[in-house]
Amino acid sequence: MSLTMLACVPLCLLPSYCFCCLLLLPWGQLCPPACTCIDFHTIDCMDQGLRSLPSAFPLDVRKLLAANNHIRTIPADLFVYYGDLVYLDLRNNCLTSLEEGTFVSSSRLVFLDLSFNALRQLDAGIFKAAEKLIKLSLGNNNLSEVNEAAFETLDSLQVLELQHNNLQSLHVGALEALPSLRAIRLEGNPWLCDCDFAKIFFWIEENASKLQQGMQEIHCSLEDRRIYLHELSEISFSECKFSLSVLDFLIIFFSGVAVSIAAIFSSFFLASTVHCFQKCAPSKDDDEEDEDED
Ligand SMILES: *[C@@H]1O[C@H](CO)[C@@H](O)[C@H](O)[C@H]1NC(C)=O
Ligand SMILES: *[C@@H]1O[C@H](CO)[C@@H](O)[C@H](O)[C@H]1NC(C)=O
Repeated sequence: MSLTMLACVPLCLLPSYCFCCLLLLPWGQLCPPACTCIDFHTIDCMDQGLRSLPSAFPLDVRKLLAANNHIRTIPADLFVYYGDLVYLDLRNNCLTSLEEGTFVSSSRLVFLDLSFNALRQLDAGIFKAAEKLIKLSLGNNNLSEVNEAAFETLDSLQVLELQHNNLQSLHVGALEALPSLRAIRLEGNPWLCDCDFAKIFFWIEENASKLQQGMQEIHCSLEDRRIYLHELSEISFSECKFSLSVLDFLIIFFSGVAVSIAAIFSSFFLASTVHCFQKCAPSKDDDEEDEDED
């Protein structure tokens, strides 16, 4: 009994000793050189002229502050290693795109600030899995394309900032996918006052209370004229409804024509079948009679 215990002691001590070593290491050695590890869960790498995120952090980092650097990409596996991240601030960096799958393990992320970067587009489901995200800041980028499904599964999102981008239009489905939305910023985009914008206009009108800066700040352009949203009403977009009804009319008209053509062809086919049946049937009887005679 005591022998086995003795044999066991060094084996048991070794891992716990190493564990103790890790705990006794000065905190600074685990902290990336350019950063300050404020506490066990908060790492501050702001204003360091970094060109990329440091590759190793304490694994249980929850709050990563990396604003005001020259970071060009979010490593695609960032959330694979640092799945406890709740708060990621990459404001004022040089991000031009987000890689697909970057956020697949970001199920704890609550706050994401990507404002003041150079993002150009948001693909379908890019933030998928960030189901706990409450605030998403994308203001002051260069976004011109936001996929209809860009914000899908962001069921907790309350604040969405898209101000001062390059958006001429936005699919209203992207906003309708956000059941918890309470505040949104859309001002400072070069919206076009066309029928695509009509749906966004109606959404804004009915959800005006959600616009943080009010409707007054948003304008769209029509043939070089700048029109503020409060100058517009549903009547302004009545042409869009008309063009829709023209389209409906065309669809109805052409389906009517198609049905008529189909009817003509089927009656022709039916008539010729009957005709053929009448014409062929006796000759077939003749053949059978011939066969009988043989
Ligand atoms: C913004 O994006 C457009 C293409 O969508 C590009 O031509 C332009 O250079 C970008 N501007 C900046 C400041 O990155
Ligand atoms: C207002 O916002 C909610 C939530 O996004 C949406 O379901 C609703 O359709 C919006 N109103 C209009 C008129 O689009």
